[in-house]
Formats: sequence, structure tokens, C-alpha cells
Amino acid sequence: MRITILTLFPEMFDGFLSTSIIARAISRGLVTVDFVNYRDFAHDTYRHVDDSPFGGGAGMVMKCQPVLDALNSVKTENCHIILLTPTGTQYGQAMAHNYAAYDHLIILCGHYEGMDARIYSHVDELVSIGDYVLTGGELASMVIADSVIRLLHGSIKEDSANDESYENGLLEYPQYTQPADYEGDKVPEVLLSGDHEKVRKWRLKESLKLTRTKRPDLFARHQLNKEEQKLVYQIEDEEADNKQ
Ligand code: ADE
Repeated sequence: MRITILTLFPEMFDGFLSTSIIARAISRGLVTVDFVNYRDFAHDTYRHVDDSPFGGGAGMVMKCQPVLDALNSVKTENCHIILLTPTGTQYGQAMAHNYAAYDHLIILCGHYEGMDARIYSHVDELVSIGDYVLTGGELASMVIADSVIRLLHGSIKEDSANDESYENGLLEYPQYTQPADYEGDKVPEVLLSGDHEKVRKWRLKESLKLTRTKRPDLFARHQLNKEEQKLVYQIEDEEADNKQ
């Protein structure tokens, strides 16, 4: 897979690309990440990429010409183009899976007050990583690149990816490691039992409990299978008992 990031600040990505799973995915040849600097496409004396907004107001707006010339310089036949903005569709794990299937993902990072809205019709999607405003799209593009790259076959162990939060529509169960007793705070007994089936059931029940309390929106969307429905009844009974 190829990921191209359009930005005014390619140096922000140095640590991201040279660390841990992302560095390994690059060295294994699973992904290439390249950059285009909008500034290289600004042709006036001061290489301006922005200007003040029509209609007045604070801040600067990125201009059509350098952004679209930069984009056109890297477009390929089957590429998918996303533009990062707080006004975009909220990003999620399903979109990460969708992006991981493209040969070439192009990500446009905005900066300043945003981009000239005429640029929007030249991209496939506007995407936001959450309901807050960043100073630019660079951190958002790292969030997206990271979540996509780790899904590429060979990036991380397949079973560790399958068990994670959001993969089955539920939050992940709590994890523990050595020691089994940390200053009197003990790991749940079942995890030391060696009984794989009991461990699996306990984890599923904890996932259901967590999702139900922390993310009722996810829980409402999740289709419970027979086993999960039974576990939810158990959780409800336990809660009722605890109230008495
Ligand atoms: N640029 C600024 N804020 C952003 C956000 N929340 N998501 C994506 N891009 C952004």
C-alpha cells in the first residue's frame, strides 16, 4: 500500500515513521509513506499558500491553486483521496478497514482556518477524527495512517488485531500481566485457571459489561448472539442482586 500525505509540515512525521510497528511495516515493505509539501506548488515571490477569507473574519484560508496542483501531482488511477477537517464524517474502525483495502490513499492536511471550500469537490471524502479542533490535520493524518497500517497483513499478529476494541463491535476486555498479586491487588482467578473456555467466556462477559456501561451507543448497535444475550441476562441479574 502507498500513503501520500499532503502537508506544510512533513518534519512533524519523523518520529511517527521511525518508531515501533509503523517503522517495521515500512521496513517489511507493507507500506510506503511519501509527502508532498503544498509550499512547493506556491509560485509567488513569498510562496504564499494561504490568504485572508472573503467576507472577513480571523485567520487565513488555504488557497485552491497550491493545494490542487499538489494533489494533481500525486493522483493515481485508483487512489482514494481524503481531506481532514473537523467538519468531516467522524472516523472509525470500519473506515480504517475500508482504507486498508486501497492501493493508494492520499491524505490532505489542512492548516490555519481551513481550506477554500472549492477544494472539497476534488476529494472523495471529508474526514474528522473527533469533535475537537486541532491546529492542523497532521496529527489527524497520523491517527488515520497508524490505524490503517496496523491492519495491513503482516503488520501485527492477526489474532491480536481480531480481539481488539471495536473489531467485534464491543470494547476489549481488561488485560493483566505479571505479577498475579500486586501489593494485594489480585488478577481475576479465572485467568490463572488454564481453562481456555472459561477464560473466553469471562472475557466476553467483561467486554459486554464494559461496552454496556462505557459506550451505550455501541452497545445499542451491537446485535447480541445467543451466548451474548445469556451473558447480558446474567449481568443484569448480578446488578439487581448488588442493588438489594
Ligand atoms: N483538523 C483540525 N481538527 C481536525 C479534526 N478534529 N479532525 C480532522 N482534521 C482536523
